[in-house]
Amino acid sequence: MLQNDYLEDLFSYINQSPTPFHVVANSATMLKAQGFQRLHESGSWQQIAPGSYFVIRNDSSLIAFTLTDRPHAGLHLRMAGAHTDSPGLKVKPNPLQFRHTCLQLGVEIYGGALLAPWFDRDLSIAGRVSWSREGGPLQCNLIDFQRPVATIPSLAIHLDREVNTKRTIDKQTDLVPLVMQSFEAGAPDFKTLLNAQLLKQHPTAAGAEIMDYDLFLYDTQPLSQVGFNNEFITGSRLDNLLSCHALLTALTQTAPRRDSLIVLNDHEEVGSVSTSGAQGPFLKNVLERLLPNPEHRQQVIAHSLFVSVDNAHAVHPNFAVKHDPDHLPLLNRGPVIKMNANQRYATTGLTAGLFRLVCRKAGVPCQQFVMRNDLACGSTIGPLTAAELGVATVDIGIPQLGMHSIRETAGHLDPWYLQLAMTAFFSEPDTAICCPEIA
Ligand code: CO
Repeated sequence: MLQNDYLEDLFSYINQSPTPFHVVANSATMLKAQGFQRLHESGSWQQIAPGSYFVIRNDSSLIAFTLTDRPHAGLHLRMAGAHTDSPGLKVKPNPLQFRHTCLQLGVEIYGGALLAPWFDRDLSIAGRVSWSREGGPLQCNLIDFQRPVATIPSLAIHLDREVNTKRTIDKQTDLVPLVMQSFEAGAPDFKTLLNAQLLKQHPTAAGAEIMDYDLFLYDTQPLSQVGFNNEFITGSRLDNLLSCHALLTALTQTAPRRDSLIVLNDHEEVGSVSTSGAQGPFLKNVLERLLPNPEHRQQVIAHSLFVSVDNAHAVHPNFAVKHDPDHLPLLNRGPVIKMNANQRYATTGLTAGLFRLVCRKAGVPCQQFVMRNDLACGSTIGPLTAAELGVATVDIGIPQLGMHSIRETAGHLDPWYLQLAMTAFFSEPDTAICCPEIA
């Protein structure tokens, strides 16, 4: 795939994936197009032949893998992971509020969202609804209103003269989106509104009664290339759908396919403790079924490297003082290896060395990040996966600005570099990426 085609493909993947459910559905489509077959956790995996497969949990996390042979002791898996969720606003169970002719939608804040950029945006709503038809079984579908149906207007500066120096945001009262105006008393039922959208997208759901939902707001503005030379890309959910897309592309285009696995986890932004999060049992369960012999499984894990891919903080020219002066990741200078002495990142000198070799083989530059000592360091799925499985792990990711904003900024070359590095990781024919012993 050429570099420009790659960016186009990435933009379309992110634009069409407003929620983790849509991320997984679109990832499944990509995998199926490349010959991956779906396995179900509720089915038997006893007889699966060598080949390429994927499995989904909670419609929001996905594991895809290639096994070239029956599981055996000498096998090593090239493993990598990223996360499907992004911070944002989630619709409350009883959301509708009716004030001053405005119908508003109560929302919860999901994860560590940067809240100010949510004001004055053309927002839409998407997610998963569960429904039933008269006594029938529970069914699920994804919905996406696609067009702008909500907005959170700012308070005018005339009504708050100190807004530019002292503004704070009350999470309960200031962020309630407007979705409709009505001059008649009483509000329509939210589930009736959902039902209409469900029917529009899924005509077979005629007669459905909505049981419940997981719905998020999102910005309808598509991704853009910005800058006199198109140096920057801006858009929602670059953290971390950019990484999901790179892993999917690298896994599917590596030829010949080698023993490899990717995990795309939900719930990273809220601590990863869930059935489908990185601190839950999803990956472990899948590895136990693929490698049922515990002796073999331990040997495989001991031979394997896990690359945890999540975006890093590029140095912001307006706020460079927030960075360690000797570790200043730049946009368009390749993936960043993230280190933390206190294990907020799982990278070690050894796993970082292995990743550097991979980048060198791919002809891709790479950089390093360490947090200032006087600022708290973030974390990601790397340390959790390392602790759950005992697998050697490196935390990496492309540099970006405005992390957790509704509109984030990255460099136009870095997605391509990341994809090249991950393709090299999955293609590596020899065992150089296994953990060596001290000679
Ligand atoms: Co992230």
